[in-house]
Amino acid sequence: MGKRLLNKVALISGGASGIGAAHARVFAEAGAKVLVCDVQAEMGRSVVDDINHKGGEAAFFRLDVASEENWKQAVAEAVKRFGGLTTLVNNAGVYQPAGLDTETVEGWNRIIAINQTGAWLGMKIAMPELLKSGNASILMMGSIYGIVGSPGSLAYHASKGALRVMSKSVAVQYARQGVRVNSVFPHLIKSGIVEALPPDVMKALEDAIPIGRGGVPEDIAYASLYLCSDEAQYVTGAEIVIDGGFTST
Ligand SMILES: NC(=O)c1ccc[n+]([C@@H]2O[C@H](COP(=O)([O-])OP(=O)(O)OC[C@H]3O[C@@H](n4cnc5c(N)ncnc54)[C@H](O)[C@@H]3O)[C@@H](O)[C@H]2O)c1
Repeated sequence: MGKRLLNKVALISGGASGIGAAHARVFAEAGAKVLVCDVQAEMGRSVVDDINHKGGEAAFFRLDVASEENWKQAVAEAVKRFGGLTTLVNNAGVYQPAGLDTETVEGWNRIIAINQTGAWLGMKIAMPELLKSGNASILMMGSIYGIVGSPGSLAYHASKGALRVMSKSVAVQYARQGVRVNSVFPHLIKSGIVEALPPDVMKALEDAIPIGRGGVPEDIAYASLYLCSDEAQYVTGAEIVIDGGFTST
């Protein structure tokens, strides 16, 4: 892979596992300096060790995306360690099965705090540093559940639907100031959230996908690599659905 992210400094939330860890590895391989941020410190440090061992440049910072104070510290750490911030990957997210009737206020608030408010805080607090770079971008981790409905995870749908229009709004607000904002919309990617599904549920979900199987975290990271690179200079407010054709049926 060429150094398509040379001179970029990326903060990746939820970077300790699954899709976020794949972003950290792929971005580092493409030349970015990467701050892996997560609540899971041991796993995050192991991703960082692996990247550094392979000749990349990465560091870990413990970030709970629901905490404004943590976000301030994480952005300051990126600046201190790597001299600035050009790229924010708002990837951290949690899922829990609960429909309209079974969701609780506590469960609802937790999902919204992490998936939605966390992404807003990240954009708000990183923005001054992104603006300084003059050539920055934000990548929002949506989900096809932000586009279509399903019966059993209403708070998750609500949070991912919000991310979709938040991305476009911030893209429009900052379009003339050198900060692009784009989203990817995965479905059934074999990582933490999906690997916990019972085999029969997984099979039924895979059978419903035109390509006939789920994806892997790198399927998402390579799309984000393009969106966060200078190859995508004219791309903002855009969405890439990565779902094996699921939403095309
Ligand atoms: N796997 C899929 O099929 C799929 C589909 C659509 C969207 N997504 C989205 O992709 C993103 C990554 O999911 P994944 O499948 O890799 O799951 P994952 O569980 O492997 O990764 C999520 C990461 O987020 C971290 N995290 C959770 N709460 C956090 C918090 N408060 N602060 C900081 N980090 C926190 C976790 O520790 C974990 O490392 C999520 O936003 C998810 O909604 C995944």
